[in-house]
Amino acid sequence: MSAASHTVVIRGTGSYAPAKVVTNHDLSKTIETSDEWIVTRTGIRERRVAGRHEDPSDMAAEAGRAALKAAGLTPADIDAIIVATMTGDLPFPSTACLVQHKIGARKCTAFDLAAACSGFVYGLEVASSLIRAGVHRHVLLIGAEKLSSILNWQDRTTCVLFGDGAGAVILSRGEGPGARNSIIGIRTGADGEDAGLLYQHAGGSRHPATADSVAHGQHFLRMNGREVFKHAVLVMEKTATELLKEHGYTAADVECVIPHQANRRIIETMAERLEVPLDRFFINLDRYGNTSAASIPIALDEAARAGRLRPGGLVLLVAFGAGLTWGAALLRWPAGA
Ligand SMILES: CC(C)(COP(=O)(O)OP(=O)(O)OC[C@H]1O[C@@H](n2cnc3c(N)ncnc32)[C@H](O)[C@@H]1OP(=O)(O)O)[C@@H](O)C(=O)NCCC(=O)NCCS
Repeated sequence: MSAASHTVVIRGTGSYAPAKVVTNHDLSKTIETSDEWIVTRTGIRERRVAGRHEDPSDMAAEAGRAALKAAGLTPADIDAIIVATMTGDLPFPSTACLVQHKIGARKCTAFDLAAACSGFVYGLEVASSLIRAGVHRHVLLIGAEKLSSILNWQDRTTCVLFGDGAGAVILSRGEGPGARNSIIGIRTGADGEDAGLLYQHAGGSRHPATADSVAHGQHFLRMNGREVFKHAVLVMEKTATELLKEHGYTAADVECVIPHQANRRIIETMAERLEVPLDRFFINLDRYGNTSAASIPIALDEAARAGRLRPGGLVLLVAFGAGLTWGAALLRWPAGA
């Protein structure tokens, strides 16, 4: 077997959500909003919010441990940890290094990946390429976010949409002649021209934290919701359709679609455009809101544990986020994952 032809198997999944639940009703006590408005416009009913001392690396470590357990591996087996996040614990070092220490995976490489809400699909592309090329045998890929730390809780146009959490998968080199590829194909893309639609103004090197930047709330997430909505619907459907076509499938072949969990209306519109019945979409945003890079891996783990992913069935992941970035992944769900 040549080094460039290793199969890639999804070996286990895990997720973690903070204990604290904040309902729409809770939010309506502090800002001018209502459960009815939020549910109608977004489908979100509640979200999880991490504790003051609960860092993304803590949530990522919990999700990672659960994925390791499901995969039947130990931290010593892991060759690489990739954490997709836009709310890492610190500007540096990477959250992946902190996770490495927390789970006791001593000798692996570790790095973060910045692609906002598309980070998990981008991470799948990187991790599966590393395994396929023979560089690594077992990769722990995690999406982890503490979006509550960059939200302006007085801004009703953004704070009602997001939540905290982490999800993880273990990708492994397939062993033996019977090993079947879990990753059929992945497509990712970006368009930096629209970077201003969803961003955090201060806190980076262009606008380092100052008393003034903090006083003006420049470290909070900013978004043009309507424009983001339009782009999301178009690009998610287009990317999914192109990916399916590239591999000789149609949307009708897909047994379960796991979309980025941002807004139920975005998902419903995508379902219509793809002509896939909504009941084939796995949706949990009502309980978590948008957890950015954590959203797809949390949903993937919940779908797997709920028996929604039939061994051998086609699973389609579709993501969209700041950057702008997007991506889709076509998986064949393994027996035993
Ligand atoms: C944010 C979003 C829910 C807003 O829905 P919308 O139907 O576009 O609503 P609008 O922005 O047009 O606002 C309509 C009205 O509701 C108000 N409003 C906004 N948020 C509100 C809230 N939480 N509660 C009550 N009213 C609210 C607005 O102020 C506006 O009032 P006005 O007409 O008096 O100015 C929607 O645009 C969206 O989901 N966008 C995509 C966001 C997203 O998913 N981002 C992440 C992508 S990874």
